[in-house]
Amino acid sequence: MKVFVTRKIMESGKKLLNDAGIEVTEWTAERDLTQEELIASCKEHDGLLSIGSNKLDAHFLQSCSHLKVIALHSVGYDHVDTETAKQLRIPVGNTPGVLTDATADLAFLLLLATSRKAFYQHKKILNGDWGFSNPSDTTDLGIELRGKTLGIFGLGSIGSELARRCKYAFGMQIIYTNRSSNLPAEKELDAQKVSFEELLAQSDAISVHANLTPETREQFNAAAFENMKETAIFGNAARGGIHNEKDLTIALKNGTIWGAGLDVTNPEPMDPGNELLNMPNVCVLPHIGSATIETRTAMLRLAAANVIAGLKGEQLPNWVNPF
Ligand code: DGY
Repeated sequence: MKVFVTRKIMESGKKLLNDAGIEVTEWTAERDLTQEELIASCKEHDGLLSIGSNKLDAHFLQSCSHLKVIALHSVGYDHVDTETAKQLRIPVGNTPGVLTDATADLAFLLLLATSRKAFYQHKKILNGDWGFSNPSDTTDLGIELRGKTLGIFGLGSIGSELARRCKYAFGMQIIYTNRSSNLPAEKELDAQKVSFEELLAQSDAISVHANLTPETREQFNAAAFENMKETAIFGNAARGGIHNEKDLTIALKNGTIWGAGLDVTNPEPMDPGNELLNMPNVCVLPHIGSATIETRTAMLRLAAANVIAGLKGEQLPNWVNPF
């Protein structure tokens, strides 16, 4: 059995696959494959381990209906047409759980970095501007998080971990929106479920941790930013498609909201000339929520387990489109 992997992977992952008798082919070029290249490569293999956001749409799936498994190296699967995969009886697996802490840490980092304008201050050193500063110039001043209200949009495991950090580090009050109530978080963190409108109106900082779905796509748009506090920070460490980036840029320029911390952008990758990158109150990172050695190793282990099960014709341990 042979699996095609869309990036070079750690030796530990390769060993797991080889030990299970699976031959591994890695895409070693320093760029993403085009869809046609991916289809051509998959035609030579029995399974796919997909790292990155390769669009696995109906065209891809119909062209590669022989695949015995698609293992994603991510928890999110919004880039995969899982329904078509199900109709074609191609099992798709993901890597839940193991990236919760790393992603919550990153959302926390962005919130704090944004509130203290950390990236802007760092750039001032690089630009030779660490000199005279005027204490009344508010461009140089951040805001504090202590005692403020954090609104979590999507209180699942990552949102709960961020809420825990913010409550215990800064005594923040937690409010949230979610399809269903998160009773453990309500009990442990005094989190309070509110409507979307209340979340916008009451939060001093909002952090997005929801899945990208037709309902959440660009839910943070001009109208939403209009209803946030002028002093509020917007954070997104989930999917860039949940915010409208033009509307966000205008809201930041006009002072409709105070700042933004983004680990995900819309589109990705962000253009290096994007004006958000030069705003003092904006911090942007290149989608690195899960990028720690520990987490990426654990993700690879789960993805390898999905590949091995799929190629044996067994149920995937983390199966997103069961049939
Ligand atoms: C995930 O696992 O979904 C992360 O966002 C990495 O893509």
